[in-house]
Amino acid sequence: MKNCFQLFIILTCSMLLFACLPAPRPNPLAESPDFPIKPSVLYETVQTYCLDCHNPEKMKGNIDLTRAVEGKLNDRPFLWLDVAHVLKHKEMPPEDERVERPDDETYLEVNNWLEKRFELNSR
Ligand code: HEC
Repeated sequence: MKNCFQLFIILTCSMLLFACLPAPRPNPLAESPDFPIKPSVLYETVQTYCLDCHNPEKMKGNIDLTRAVEGKLNDRPFLWLDVAHVLKHKEMPPEDERVERPDDETYLEVNNWLEKRFELNSR
């Protein structure tokens, strides 16, 4: 009987623990074909405007794009979703820093490139 009670406590605790864990984000590109980043407008933009800060030495925002940009979107889907977010809202490169920023047309092109690939999967 005592064992039964212990078992009950253990089960209840594990259920509570499980319920509190954050649900894993589903990979948005799980069903997609491979999307190499090079060559593309995203590749050019990151090369030109992002790597000064997002490299292994500076690691601004704890992000290194130098290696990721040579690979596929599928390798780091969440990183590229974050990039899509900051580019959509023109949050990067930071406005207060005196660094060159892409023009509106480039922002638009990169957004379209990214949106097309991330949406392909949801159809
Ligand atoms: C002048 C330096 C600088 C440049 C250039 C720069 N960033 Fe950043 N980035 C930062 C800093 C600092 C942070 C962390 C603080 C913040 O979120 O503002 C950051 C954060 C980020 C984040 C995480 C944002 C978040 O909300 O978690 C992403 C994604 C990002 N940058 C992408 C880019 C991309 C893409 C480019 C090029 C278009 C770029 N950055 C250019 C300095 C830079």
